Amino acid sequence: MKLLGLFTCFCTLAVARAVVLEVKAGRETGRIEAAAFTTINDALKAANPGDTIVLFPGVFKERLLVSKDSITLRGSTSSTKPSENEVSIEAAKYASDTISDDDSATLLVTGSNFRAYNLNITNSAAGAEKASVAISSTGTNNAFYVCGIHGTQGVFYAHLGSVFVARSYIQGGTDVAYGRTANAWFQGVRLGATKEGGTLSAQGRQKGGTGYFVFDKAKVVVGKGADAYTKGSVFLGRPWGDYARTVFQYSDLGDVVAGAGWRLYTSSQATKNILFGEYANSNDDGARVSWAKSLSSATSISSILPDYKNWVDSSFIGASSP
Ligand SMILES: *[C@@H]1O[C@H](CO)[C@@H](O)[C@H](O)[C@H]1NC(C)=O
Repeated sequence: MKLLGLFTCFCTLAVARAVVLEVKAGRETGRIEAAAFTTINDALKAANPGDTIVLFPGVFKERLLVSKDSITLRGSTSSTKPSENEVSIEAAKYASDTISDDDSATLLVTGSNFRAYNLNITNSAAGAEKASVAISSTGTNNAFYVCGIHGTQGVFYAHLGSVFVARSYIQGGTDVAYGRTANAWFQGVRLGATKEGGTLSAQGRQKGGTGYFVFDKAKVVVGKGADAYTKGSVFLGRPWGDYARTVFQYSDLGDVVAGAGWRLYTSSQATKNILFGEYANSNDDGARVSWAKSLSSATSISSILPDYKNWVDSSFIGASSP
């Protein structure tokens, strides 16, 4: 979609009004006016590390690759509720039609120190049992705040490095958040389950490797357009590797999660090295699988993201779900 310039944007549809402004990080040393860019990709090309790209309201039909470091991408709003976001970035691509899962992502971040605020990001390839990634992050210390993230299978790929997601809504059916070596902390994330018997996560740590997912103060709900019998049928996760580690703590499981809590990826999988744990969750009735762990204390963010204070926006630390 072409973005219209400042001079035409007042009189056109909301969808076509999107305009890109670029501001220098820290202080506004100058705005590169809207008409300079017709796509977010053009703004990304022009941006330098440290820059912020602000998106005006609208729907952007683009797939984005952020390869530079220290880029901030902001929607037009600054609400702490993803439901009030006015910017939507949308594409439709199955991982099976590309070289790797990353290449299906609507937003692929290979740079480090990336921040997104108030954006909706959707991969609308749906209806088949295959991954179609909305966001993939392979850099170090990448953060996503107040985002609406939508897909069907393999929606948020915490692929490599370190990731912080807060006050966001993530919707999907199978392996909604997944990844092998990344350490990812999901703070106050609302998870919208859409598939009967689906899985909210698929952590895939391998022997001796990194990789750890923690969901703190999450809220599980039935997502928009969900299967009729989703409620009470969904699993917190399945292990994509025999050393998988995932914790849900202080989370409201909304009676959406099945009693067993977790399931295996393959039926013959060894469970002795899997750490699937829970601490102080609510609305979670049922007897868990024998290999699930009931933890005696909460997991600390510093054990997952040791230097989080250097890069996580402090106003989102400990945040509850929208
Ligand atoms: C953004 O996503 C949220 C969560 O799904 C939704 O409530 C909201 O309507 C979306 N906004 C836009 C502009 O797509």
